[in-house]
Amino acid sequence: MNVQEAIVSLLQTVQEELQHIADSQGLEGVRLRMLGKKGELTALLRAMGQVPPEDRPAIGQMINEAREKAVALLDARGQWIAARERALALANERIDVTQPVPGPGLGALHPISLVLGEVLDVFTGMGFEVVEGPEVELDLFNFEMMNMPPNHPARDAQDTFYIEDKIVLRTHTSPVQARIMTTRKPPIRIVCPGRVYRADEVDATHSPVFHQLEGLVVGEDVTMADLKGTLDAFAQRLYGPDITTRFRPSFFPFTEPSAEVDLTCSACRGKGCRVCKGTGWIEVLGSGMVNPRVLDMCGIASDRYSGFAFGVGLERIAMLRYDIQDMRLLYEGDVRFLSQFR
Ligand code: DAH
Repeated sequence: MNVQEAIVSLLQTVQEELQHIADSQGLEGVRLRMLGKKGELTALLRAMGQVPPEDRPAIGQMINEAREKAVALLDARGQWIAARERALALANERIDVTQPVPGPGLGALHPISLVLGEVLDVFTGMGFEVVEGPEVELDLFNFEMMNMPPNHPARDAQDTFYIEDKIVLRTHTSPVQARIMTTRKPPIRIVCPGRVYRADEVDATHSPVFHQLEGLVVGEDVTMADLKGTLDAFAQRLYGPDITTRFRPSFFPFTEPSAEVDLTCSACRGKGCRVCKGTGWIEVLGSGMVNPRVLDMCGIASDRYSGFAFGVGLERIAMLRYDIQDMRLLYEGDVRFLSQFR
């Protein structure tokens, strides 16, 4: 086989092989086999030494032309492969922007917030204004103006966190009564929700931080019947028309007379069950007629005005409402618990 034939057959082989090559790796293989240092066309060039000198220019030119053709063939296939690989990559990495995506996880209102919302709805519906007071409170408002002078035994019932000698974390929301009464004239009709603090050990029914809602009404001719009527309406709006209140005599320094208030058990509607320990009643708040001494200390003339007040524990309402057995669940932030209120 002479050189010319060898070149023709080589180019033919390249052409045929390239038809089956579909990726850049395969292409590089063919290129090396033809044009590499040990390639077949390179070998032909090397063999020029055996060609008679007079034939060398012609044969050299043929080999060079063949080389250019081979390069052109490889380039053309290379372009085809590049286009194909790009198309494949585009197809593989295609993103379907019309696919539905899961939205961000929805949170839920905390049970205390849910209950507070309901309770505030009821009271604002009855014309109460919602006010707030500071959690870091003066001894003056937390105790003294609530008719608990220094060394008064009632202070012992509230294990107090002291910030300083005369500054405490409020042990109840009642100091807001004093803050409002010292700055406003009757008629006063407010509720005040908020956090309160007591140096209590944590257990299923106690927490050093919990929530109360204080209520205060002051005006002319405000009587205990108004207190009873207001709390009955509150209980019925919250739990239904068959619910009533029961007043039991009690003592608070800031009210006189004072009453512990029970509501018909909403779990058994008064029949007696596990929740109410068979009594049909649930104790939910403290209340009474604002002690005339408190009115006078706040600059409201007790011979002209009277008032009633009450304090509700929001944890207690939430636990009854949602049948929660352990108060700690309300503070641990466990999403398995909290997501149930969605
Ligand atoms: N401050 C009381 C407490 O924390 C609750 C309370 C009782 C508030 C009677 C009142 C009230 O306004 O009249 O235990």
